[in-house]
Amino acid sequence: MSLTGQAKIAGVAGWPVGHSLSPRLHGYWIAEYKLDAAYIPLPIRPEDFAPAVALLPKLGLRGLNVTIPHKEAAFALATEQDEAAKATGAVNTLIFEDGRIVGKNTDVAGVIGMLHDAGIATLAGKHALVYGAGGAARAVVLALTKLQAAQIFIANRTQSKAQDLAKRFSIPGSAVVAVSEGTELGNVDVLINTTSVGMIGKDAGENASLPALRFDAQPGSAYAIDIVYRPLETPFLSKHRKAGLKIVDGLGMLLHQAVPAFKAWFGIEPKVTPALRAHMIEALKD
Ligand code: ATR
Repeated sequence: MSLTGQAKIAGVAGWPVGHSLSPRLHGYWIAEYKLDAAYIPLPIRPEDFAPAVALLPKLGLRGLNVTIPHKEAAFALATEQDEAAKATGAVNTLIFEDGRIVGKNTDVAGVIGMLHDAGIATLAGKHALVYGAGGAARAVVLALTKLQAAQIFIANRTQSKAQDLAKRFSIPGSAVVAVSEGTELGNVDVLINTTSVGMIGKDAGENASLPALRFDAQPGSAYAIDIVYRPLETPFLSKHRKAGLKIVDGLGMLLHQAVPAFKAWFGIEPKVTPALRAHMIEALKD
């Protein structure tokens, strides 16, 4: 469908941005719902990001997704932040409306959506183990507390960062604790890798391994989840699939984090469907 003068425009800002799957994802929904809209890649250098965010609303853009290296700058430039952005200190979505710049972190909704699709509606009474303590881990831990996980263990190469993360998210009802190599954890129901270990293009050298821990995970009922989707089945997922765990790849988080952004800019809550997943997997084969 060609655009009219009324077309709603949004995009993704990154440097570089050529690898982003977001134009393909939002473009799919724009075509699916036959919208008079466009979603464009915007390669913006770090030093140009603040002036661009000041100008883009004046050019009529509805908002932006924000990827590396702009997430902290986006947080600082937002005139208001949603609860998930405040809790994680990161913004991946900007909405321009009436002179305001609303910053959201939709990764938290992305994790919850991914878990729902896997059949996990609540984690009440369950124990989760999170590998990693970076920006992505914050969104994951917040999502796990929202699903009421009883116990959240955090294991990270740099122990002090695991401790900081545990402190940040310790709330009544969910015990969040940093654990170190060799710790005996007892039963764990959900394992989530949030690190870049196993991602295509990352160093797979001798340091690229996750902290070794001792725990029991029930074959057939425990889940292993990776938020990495390149490759779709990471070494972390293969290992746990072979041990009989249910596995969930990171594509679901990518698809679900886009839902609230699309709704805010284009006014329709889009559906995450098997056909959309297949469309995105096509691009991952390149
Ligand atoms: P993101 O925003 O994607 O979470 P990040 O904030 O840079 O990115 O965090 C990357 C995470 O992957 C961190 O937990 C990091 O561990 P450190 O805190 O010790 O740096 C983890 N990570 C990255 N490369 C790793 C490797 N080779 N081995 C183990 N952990 C690694």
